[in-house]
Amino acid sequence: MLDFIIRRHSIRKFKDENIPDKDLIEIIKAATLAPSGKNSQNWHFIVIKNRNKLNEIADIVKNKELKLSQYIKDGIEKNKFISSIDNHIFFKDAPITVFVYAGPYPDNRKKILKNAKVAKEEIEEYINVEPRIQNIGAAMENLLLAAANLGYGGCWMTGPMLAKKEIEEYIGFHKDGYSLVCMAPLGVPSENEIISSTRKPIEEILTIID
Ligand SMILES: Cc1cc2nc3c(=O)[nH]c(=O)nc-3n(C[C@H](O)[C@H](O)[C@H](O)COP(=O)(O)O)c2cc1C
Repeated sequence: MLDFIIRRHSIRKFKDENIPDKDLIEIIKAATLAPSGKNSQNWHFIVIKNRNKLNEIADIVKNKELKLSQYIKDGIEKNKFISSIDNHIFFKDAPITVFVYAGPYPDNRKKILKNAKVAKEEIEEYINVEPRIQNIGAAMENLLLAAANLGYGGCWMTGPMLAKKEIEEYIGFHKDGYSLVCMAPLGVPSENEIISSTRKPIEEILTIID
């Protein structure tokens, strides 16, 4: 019954095969079928197919992370930081990468509570649950499930966001209040045996209250 969920794994290596536009559009449409607070649909998807552009973006990420690594004094921490760079640039070998922008979440309750002089901490408690970003999470999971069910694979990525500003500048997309929050390379998986990372036991993550 849950096959369509079990079929999804993070895919980081891809065959040299393109995704036809009709499949791509189906995948993006699936993303937009996700629930969103106030049906705000505060997402925008930029798809880059051009391999040179993806390589240039990967270079931007690598250079930014190398630059930041210069601030790390502890040798072990520095090596750890540098060795994780490959996990943030493998999208350069995917046929396409989807860059996901989040827009503002129209929430007048914050303003109403502020005007009513409710304590700032109490308002922040509420804002901390970040409905704006939760919407994007729902869309991302739909996107990856749809891709897996069409025979593709991908990986949700926030690692490259250390170079968020630089990537935004490179892409040059402007929509009021929107900014880059994550990305996902997509393609035909190259791994023969595709498996997910292990999961915590159910007893550890589930509490049922009668
Ligand atoms: C918000 C988020 C950010 C992630 N960022 C990265 C990333 O930058 N690089 C990467 O290789 N994997 C990234 N992943 C993939 C996770 O490592 C992966 O989902 C997890 O290990 C579980 O494996 P599975 O997706 O195969 O089930 C990210 C996943 C999520 C949900």
